[in-house]
Amino acid sequence: MKITKLLAVAGFLALGFLPIHKAYTEDTTQYWMKIRAEDKFQRTLIANTGVSIETTREDFVVGIGSLEEKNKVEALGLLEVSFPLTAEMDFPSKDAAFHNYAEMTDKLRSLTSQYSQIAQMSSIGKTYEGRDIWVVRISGDLAHADSLPAAIFMGGHHAREHLSIELPLYYIEYLLTEYAKGNPRVQRLVNGRDIHIIPMVNADGAEYDISTGSYKSWRKNRAKNNDGTYGVDLNRNYGYGWGGGGASTSPNSDTFRGPNAFSEPETQAVKKYVEDHQNITILLSFHTFSQLILYPWGHVYDSIANARDKQVHETMAKKMAEWNGYTPEQSSDLYIASGDTTDWSYGEHKIISFTFELDPANSGWGSGGFYPGAQVIPEVQRKNLEPVLYLIEYADNPYRVIDSGSGPIFKP
Ligand code: ARG
Ligand code: ZN
Repeated sequence: MKITKLLAVAGFLALGFLPIHKAYTEDTTQYWMKIRAEDKFQRTLIANTGVSIETTREDFVVGIGSLEEKNKVEALGLLEVSFPLTAEMDFPSKDAAFHNYAEMTDKLRSLTSQYSQIAQMSSIGKTYEGRDIWVVRISGDLAHADSLPAAIFMGGHHAREHLSIELPLYYIEYLLTEYAKGNPRVQRLVNGRDIHIIPMVNADGAEYDISTGSYKSWRKNRAKNNDGTYGVDLNRNYGYGWGGGGASTSPNSDTFRGPNAFSEPETQAVKKYVEDHQNITILLSFHTFSQLILYPWGHVYDSIANARDKQVHETMAKKMAEWNGYTPEQSSDLYIASGDTTDWSYGEHKIISFTFELDPANSGWGSGGFYPGAQVIPEVQRKNLEPVLYLIEYADNPYRVIDSGSGPIFKP
């Protein structure tokens, strides 16, 4: 908040002609409030202050409102707990090692400025709420990277799957620091490849999930649907087989597919980015959890018709499973779901595509499910490093895994 105000003052001094006074004096802070409310009459009183009631329980509600509205609730004598929702939303302190959007952005900025010869950060587009969706591109020859074989890694399609952001973020750091240290394998890979990493596709959802200091188990993005509910499931919104099974037509559902394929700015941004980089041969999208390595198809029970493509996916999945210990299988062996990232990237672009469902194995007692705790981060990063390096390695010709001895097929 202090920094924001400083910036506002600096902006005012620098651009004195802009009517910045208003922005500076207006307090736009929203407050999270737990408010005592024992019946509909009390809830109406609260609603009439202008507070938006987000949750209703037997004897209280949770609402969000301005300072003025908070004062009104207080005057009614009903306010139990409140705290400001500042721009910097954050993880519960025990999970401070996870990166929120601002922390991730800072980290990407500092890494890409420190290693600017081989890394560059840009925005592939904006989320529904206007956050930049960052990509880091890594190559030993950035100027000619379009003519090198490319692999793309993504995390954070689903808001509550915070661990899926920590892996791509770590691999950016790993590749850049190991390259600088002179790690010969990393230098060879980075020099011969074009690597694209998008750690947080659903930035709005991830921030929303941590916005009140306790997790909300949010999954979707934060688009406002036309019935007033929020969110489209980004992993049901891609355009290949969209509209099939395992995706909901109901906006309130956690697996709402959206009003049409690629209706969301986040999936649009990924679509355009992949279309703009025709050299991509390999894609991996990180999710949590279940310890699985999934490959197309997900929208039908049939397996990939092209025998070689099928065999490449199976062979690579099995190989990667040796390192991370996960179970390799076709996506629809888990359940049918339509509109996911990898059905589109393979179906539309013939990119060899995988979804990893990271740790934990299940949501059993103590394992944490979507919230396994920060202590698992290093181990999950480590066990998935070899699969990531392997995918980068074979981006020149994934078919090498089945035809040993065949040369690169990659032609820019
Ligand atoms: N659990 C992920 C999701 O629900 C992965 C889905 C993978 N695709 C599938 N057809 N099962 O988005
Ligand atoms: Zn997921």
